[in-house]
Amino acid sequence: MLDKENIPAHVAIIMDGNGRWARERGFARSEGHREGVKRAEEIIEEADAIGVKFLTFFAFSTENWKRSRIEVAVLMRLLDIFLKRNLSRLMKHNMRLRVIGRKEPIPDFLWKHLVSAQSKTKNNTGLTVILAFNYGARQEIVDAAKKIAKEIMAKKARAEDINEESFNSFLYTSGIPDPDMLIRTSGEVRISNFLLWQLSYSELYFPKVCWPDFKRENFQEAILEYQKRARRFGAA
Ligand code: IPE
Ligand code: IPE
Ligand code: MG
Repeated sequence: MLDKENIPAHVAIIMDGNGRWARERGFARSEGHREGVKRAEEIIEEADAIGVKFLTFFAFSTENWKRSRIEVAVLMRLLDIFLKRNLSRLMKHNMRLRVIGRKEPIPDFLWKHLVSAQSKTKNNTGLTVILAFNYGARQEIVDAAKKIAKEIMAKKARAEDINEESFNSFLYTSGIPDPDMLIRTSGEVRISNFLLWQLSYSELYFPKVCWPDFKRENFQEAILEYQKRARRFGAA
């Protein structure tokens, strides 16, 4: 049974293993991605039911442009389908959508749909679903450094006043608490340029199942595992 008093406020997920899941079944990689979208929808519902407040999905990294043109196009189209299919559901459940990542070179049509879904849901007060799309943590940190440099040059800030809190406010995730837990499916044990700053004290969890097999029960199991961890933040 889950301890209702110890639910992670923010869970971040690297949805990995779609390609391997498909290959094992003799399907095209796109079938794995399609099934993966269904799992994202299922986990949104489950996280909301459990009482998670922020749920971040790594959906497309700045390095994923290295994939074939066809696979990239499939991933773009699937995000668009996800938005179309879920906007009314997000509204109905009082959920907010937020996108983190760089705009370029996301196709204009898709960017428009992302911005519009974000603005339509911005006053909702329930679960915040964060899509990391064309996201890279190093790029995010570099972008923050650039913004800070500009503020200093414009005399809107002073170098000596920059601290962890103010630096945080220049990241794409400004206003979002750090993840309490990171889940990466498929057995890969690495961060792959995801939330490098924000994961400093997150509990890391690497289940073996590929993302298209990560069901509600697997998410509950992850939360149960989180509740067994002793978080010390450096204290004794
Ligand atoms: C994760 O699955 C989905 C994205 C990166 C968009 P992969 O496509 O990386 O699947 P594997 O790791 O090749 O199995
Ligand atoms: C990380 O998975 C990115 C996403 C899940 C969107 P990758 O499959 O791209 O990562 P690597 O290449 O195995 O490190
Ligand atoms: Mg992968």
